[in-house]
Amino acid sequence: MPEFPTGFRWGVSTSAYQIEGAADTDGRGPSIWDTFAATPGRIADGSSGAVACDHYHRYAEDTALMAGLGVTAYRFSVSWPRVLPTGAGAVNASGLDFYDRLVDGLLANGIDPVATLFHWDLPQPIEDAGGWLNRDTAYRFAEYADLVAAHLGDRVKLWITLNEPFIHMSLGYGTGEHAPGRTLLFDSFPVAHHQLLGHGLAVGALRARSGSPVAIANNYSPVRPMGDSPADHAAAAAYEALHNRLFTDPLLGRGYPELGFDQDVVRDGDLDVIAAPLDVLGVNYYNPTGVRAPEADSPLPFALVPLEGYPRTAFDWPVAPDGLRELLGWLRDRYGPDLPPIQITESGCAYDDEPDAQGRVSDPDRIAYLDGHLRAVHAAIADGVDVTGYFVWSLLDNWEWAEGFTKRFGLVHVDFPTGRRTPKSSYAWLREMIATAGPDP
Ligand code: NOJ
Repeated sequence: MPEFPTGFRWGVSTSAYQIEGAADTDGRGPSIWDTFAATPGRIADGSSGAVACDHYHRYAEDTALMAGLGVTAYRFSVSWPRVLPTGAGAVNASGLDFYDRLVDGLLANGIDPVATLFHWDLPQPIEDAGGWLNRDTAYRFAEYADLVAAHLGDRVKLWITLNEPFIHMSLGYGTGEHAPGRTLLFDSFPVAHHQLLGHGLAVGALRARSGSPVAIANNYSPVRPMGDSPADHAAAAAYEALHNRLFTDPLLGRGYPELGFDQDVVRDGDLDVIAAPLDVLGVNYYNPTGVRAPEADSPLPFALVPLEGYPRTAFDWPVAPDGLRELLGWLRDRYGPDLPPIQITESGCAYDDEPDAQGRVSDPDRIAYLDGHLRAVHAAIADGVDVTGYFVWSLLDNWEWAEGFTKRFGLVHVDFPTGRRTPKSSYAWLREMIATAGPDP
């Protein structure tokens, strides 16, 4: 593996609902994912994140695992319903205390805390008032950001406002595969706008309370037209605008792409709030997407088709490190000088990893995946893209949303429900990689 630039940030990522558990502990309120997981048929194995990895009680052990790995940063998310059980108003001091303990433990181990403020676990009372379809939610989010920054702003080293707002909009409000389970298709555009408005307002609050840089973590997928007809190319362009530009264009000052959405919810001044300068663009990358023209009766202007010719993960996602290099080049070419430095805030894969008779967990496919994607990042840096960090999704096997416990993304195997942690062979590989490929800051 070639060397990475001095100061390159090596990290691992997780999110609150996927690892913390302790759903009813110390005053946490309900989130939309508690409600969704309790609805029969929503989660592949019928499970919930009520216990998950029990990280709420095992955070010291997990911090020691990170220290052993040699990462310089940890991206976690703050659970909004843990610190504000009804979403707004009364603060739960015990909830804030948990993040104090976590952050202090990270710093004591030389690991930069990177905090995401919204990783999909909306407080249920906020959903009951309309969720992200309601403009008020943007203001509640900014108040929550202000509260967290007032508390942790002296110690968090990088703020991430929202995680994958496109996925939250499309699966949560568009198709209903994720909480809150709405099926509005293109009528979910207000969810995009209100998340972005909340982001912009939160940037202001974070800057007022903390000197640390501010980012957002977007999901991107290079789009491959799966046919040569003009209709196939038009479908690919439409999907690219939806997946890769709907959030990034307005964030970087270009307004919304033309997608035929009803934009009545956009008020004067909103686009300026949304385009507040960003210090870092977080890029979550998993795979490219194949697109062709839709059937005549489709409600959507595109059809998604599987890409052939790639190895596949347990999620059936194609393993395509070339897509990451392509994506990073696309971002540079499209946004030019407006593009902030990039950190890869998620990259990883699910495989069916289980311990052998000796209790060892060998995951050569994950090692190959990470090797390929790190080489792609290195190549993109050589191409002139300013990439300053890479976070593996995920430290631990965890609760993978609608897939429950059936998809294992961790560098560390977790035995459910005992919670026993076993570092996989990819953990040892990454430790060696960080020690040799990245000079310390
Ligand atoms: C992106 C999401 O941010 C994360 O929560 C999820 O577990 C991974 N993708 C894998 O699907």
